[in-house]
Formats: sequence, structure tokens, C-alpha cells
Amino acid sequence: MNSADKRNSVKRDYDLIAEQYGDEFGKYIEDIDIYREFEKYLPDGASILDLGCGTGRTYAYFSEKGYKYTGVDFSEKMKEKAFALHGEFPYIVDDIMNIKEHFSEGSFNAVFAVYSLFHLPKEDFEQTIANIRDLLRDGGVVLLSYQLGEGEAFVDEPYLKDAGREILYMNYMSKLHVDGVLESNGFEKLYESEKHEEGDGVIGENGNDAVYVIARKK
Ligand SMILES: C[S@@+](CC[C@H](N)C(=O)[O-])C[C@H]1O[C@@H](n2cnc3c(N)ncnc32)[C@H](O)[C@@H]1O
Repeated sequence: MNSADKRNSVKRDYDLIAEQYGDEFGKYIEDIDIYREFEKYLPDGASILDLGCGTGRTYAYFSEKGYKYTGVDFSEKMKEKAFALHGEFPYIVDDIMNIKEHFSEGSFNAVFAVYSLFHLPKEDFEQTIANIRDLLRDGGVVLLSYQLGEGEAFVDEPYLKDAGREILYMNYMSKLHVDGVLESNGFEKLYESEKHEEGDGVIGENGNDAVYVIARKK
């Protein structure tokens, strides 16, 4: 399967589960301590680009604090659910791989990519980090999360488990790899934390540990 096929499979999956995902997570903010850490690096009214913004929980959080928020997600159904939950807001329906078609270089103070890059094919990760760097102003910051481990897998999507589908593409990466990609693309790491999650279905042989990184464009 090539990288476009992997991404399309993720898009199909989120179109199928948008309603349930939005009902569970559309207004639920977790990891608030990490959001607060990220905000330490944001100027007042900062422009934030959210990659894989889903059903809009981060829109609600950041717009309430006066930040200028734009979301990107390739699932039309996730957008519909986001608007049903929060009303309309700046939301581009496209693949993360195409973000440079929508914005000029240096457009944002910050990029937020939490719980989304683990669905990007391994072979697309470095290009995405390079694109994020280009869209950030000098000194801009990115908060990203990734799934710790090695290799890639199609795992059960929790909401579709009953139907016996194993279709959710996951990319697992090591800290060494991610740190190397950030460093070679001109980022300095400011913060890192790890979170172990129990039994939400995205498991597989890699376990279920997420890493959060805040990095600044040098
Ligand atoms: C687990 S959800 C997380 C949504 C949101 N960040 C949150 O925390 O609630 C992953 C989201 O990333 C989106 N996504 C995954 N790969 C993508 C890609 N290549 N381009 C655009 N969106 C993508 C999915 O459609 C989905 O809405």
C-alpha cells in the first residue's frame, strides 16, 4: 500500500466514526497541562494552525483565549460534526500533506498537531515537519504528539471493533527518530512529556504510549 492509500484509509475511517468521535471528544479537553505549557510560548492573539483538528475541541479552547485559530482536517464528516458542536469556524478540508497550498510561508506563530501525526504514513513525516517549519514565523513553536514504538500497523478502530474491521493506520516512532527529524529541520526542542494510556483500543504490539514535544523554529 502506498502512502496515499494509507492516508485515504484514515480519511475513510474518520468519515465513518465522526459522529461517535465528536460525541465523545468534541468538547472534552484532556492534557490541559500540556496545552498550558504550549501557551507559555504564544504571543497574545497568536495565529495557530491545528493539523488534524477533528471535531473542534481545540478550536473551542484556543478561540476562547483570543487566539486566531485555523483547523485543517481531510474528513468532511469530522468538519460537519465540528460545526454542529461549535458553529462554523476557519476549517480547511484537505490532507495535511497539502498545507503549503493554502498558506504562504511564515503565516503562523504556532502549529498544533496532537493525536493526528500518528496517522501520517511514516514516509510522510519528515516532509510534514519541513512544511510546518516553512509555515511558522521565525521563533514560532509546534506542539506535536506521536505514538512511541517502531514500525506501522493497521489496528482496530475502537468504534468499529464490533464490525471486525482492522483498518486504522498507525505510525509508531522512536524518540531518536523524531528528535533527529526536528533537529535536521531547524527546530530546537523546548519540552517533552510521555503519557501512558490504558485500553482505548489503539494498542497493538507497540503498547500505547504517547510523546508530546514542543519545539521552536530556530
Ligand atoms: C484522533 S483524531 C484527533 C482530532 C483532534 N486533533 C483531537 O485531538 O480531537 C485524528 C484526526 O486527524 C485527521 N487526520 C489524520 N490524518 C490526516 C491527514 N493526512 N490529513 C488531514 N487530516 C488528517 C483525522 O481525520 C482525524 O480527524
